[in-house]
Formats: sequence, structure tokens, C-alpha cells
Amino acid sequence: MKDQAESLRAQLKKQHGRPAKTFAVVSGKGGVGKSNISVNMAAALAKQGSKVLLFDMDIGMGNIHVLLGLDAPYTISDFIHRGMGLSQILCKGPDNISYISAGNGFNEVIRMEDAAVGKLINEIEWLQYDYDYMIFDMGAGAAASSLQIMLSVDDIFVVTTPEPTAITDAYSMIKYICMQQFDSPLYLICNRAEKEKEGLVTLSRLRFTIKKFLGKEAEILGVVPEDSNVKKAVLRQMPFYLEYPHTSAAKKIDALLQSYITGYDSKRTGGVPLFVRKLRGLWQKNS
Ligand SMILES: Nc1ncnc2c1ncn2[C@@H]1O[C@H](COP(=O)(O)OP(=O)(O)O)[C@@H](O)[C@H]1O
Ligand SMILES: [Mg+2]
Repeated sequence: MKDQAESLRAQLKKQHGRPAKTFAVVSGKGGVGKSNISVNMAAALAKQGSKVLLFDMDIGMGNIHVLLGLDAPYTISDFIHRGMGLSQILCKGPDNISYISAGNGFNEVIRMEDAAVGKLINEIEWLQYDYDYMIFDMGAGAAASSLQIMLSVDDIFVVTTPEPTAITDAYSMIKYICMQQFDSPLYLICNRAEKEKEGLVTLSRLRFTIKKFLGKEAEILGVVPEDSNVKKAVLRQMPFYLEYPHTSAAKKIDALLQSYITGYDSKRTGGVPLFVRKLRGLWQKNS
């Protein structure tokens, strides 16, 4: 009876709801600021009244709960190994941000086996109607399960810093994604730039290289400055967007989101639940 009621509710949601916009935040090199950008974009969207689910995909090494200053009683490990559902392992952060913790225990091997990916897809299919945005903070590297997520989301945000090593690693990551069947828009972000110009030059060069060698268009989303308040906020375990809303990094988060939202509003009508369809297709092909 409960199952029937649930599937009816899910069916109704599917008919009347609008699925969340999904995007993944990726990089080549670790430590470039993916998690901070994910958390603070989530905070900015939540502040504007959107319902946000932040998914920590750095499985086994996640730190979103640390950045939000919260304990995560449950993690993705409970989903994979203990049969809990996504809605049961969901935690609530500041401004009602929902997040799913990736867990950071080295004492157990946490790997997304195929069966877990299948279950994840089924649960996301329903959960996406409860949110306006689903943000995936990806770990460094590209395990099969994270690659499937990256190839399925509506949009990919690639984060680099102005350092040559971060740029070449970002390019390698983009090349790797482009070698798969990949048609989602790519948005480039330069974090930790000492000057706006330095960031823009970094991003134009990266965009040029992607176009020249991979034949793929990428959009420059913007530059987030090096800002001492970011580190201060990390130490206080609060998103800088909430703790220091007037700092330059917080203002840039607003600007980045503004240009992203304006961009897709003008290009697309939205509401097509492609994410789960793509994810399921890739998973079935690989398993
Ligand atoms: N814009 C910035 N200004 C100053 N420090 C930053 C900035 N972005 C990130 N950092 C520093 O870099 C560290 C790593 O960032 P993090 O978001 O954890 O990277 P990633 O998720 O890519 O590994 C942060 O703890 C912070 O100290
Ligand atoms: Mg991270």
C-alpha cells in the first residue's frame, strides 16, 4: 500500500513538477576551490529562495560537511553499504541547503559499485522534482561513476586557478570528458586570481585551446579573486557567502550565477529531465 502511494506520488510529481537544474563542479588538479565554489553557489542560490541539493561526490574524502560546520550523521556509505535511501541520508545545512555527505572514513573502502549507481539513479529520478538545483561537487580524478555523472548533468563548471599546472590539468580533464560522448555546455571559472585581468587571460587561453584542439565551445563564466576571507570562512566552517557577504569573492559568486542563469534562461526553455535519462543510458551501456 505504502509502495503504491509512493509510486503514485512520484508519478504526480513527474507529471506536474519541474526537475532540478543539474550541474557538476569539476577540475583537473585538486585544491583549486571546487568545494568552496560549490558550497558558496549553493548558499547564494538558497539565499535567493531556491531549493538546493548539494551532492558531495568526493567519495571517501568529502569535506562539504566541514565547510558547512556540521556533522553528517549519515553519508553516502550508508546508502551504498547499509541500504539507506537518499532522503534518509540527506542532511540540512545553513539556509536550508540540503546536502549529501561523501563520507571521509579511510577505515572502509567506499566505492560506487554498479548496483549502487543504479540505485542512485532511481532515487535521483524522484528527488530531482523536490529541488530547483542539484550541484555535484566532484572529487579529483574521474572514477567511472563520477564520469557518468559528469556526462549526464545539464552543465559542467570547470574550475582552474591561474597556475600553469592547474590550467593544463583542467585542459586534460576537459579532453578526457570530450573524448566520451559529451554534449553539455562547459563553463570556465578561474579561482584565486590576484587580478581580474589575470583570470580573464587564463580563461581566454583555455577556451582558445579547447576550441582549437577539441573543437568544443566553452563559455567563460568568470573570475573569483584570491580573497583572504575565503580562508577565514573555511576556518570558521561557514560559507564565505554567508559569513562575509560583502567580500569580493561573495560578490563574484553572485555575478557568476547571474550570468549563468541569464545565459540558460535565454537559450533554453528548460524543464526537460535529461539528466536521469542520460545517466541511466550510460550506466546500462557500461554494466
Ligand atoms: N578564492 C580564494 N581565495 C583564497 N583562498 C582560497 C580561494 N579558494 C580556495 N581557497 C583556499 O583553497 C583551499 C582549497 O579549496 P577547496 O574548495 O577545498 O578545493 P577543492 O575542492 O578543489 O579541492 C581552501 O580551503 C581555501 O583555503
Ligand atoms: Mg573538494
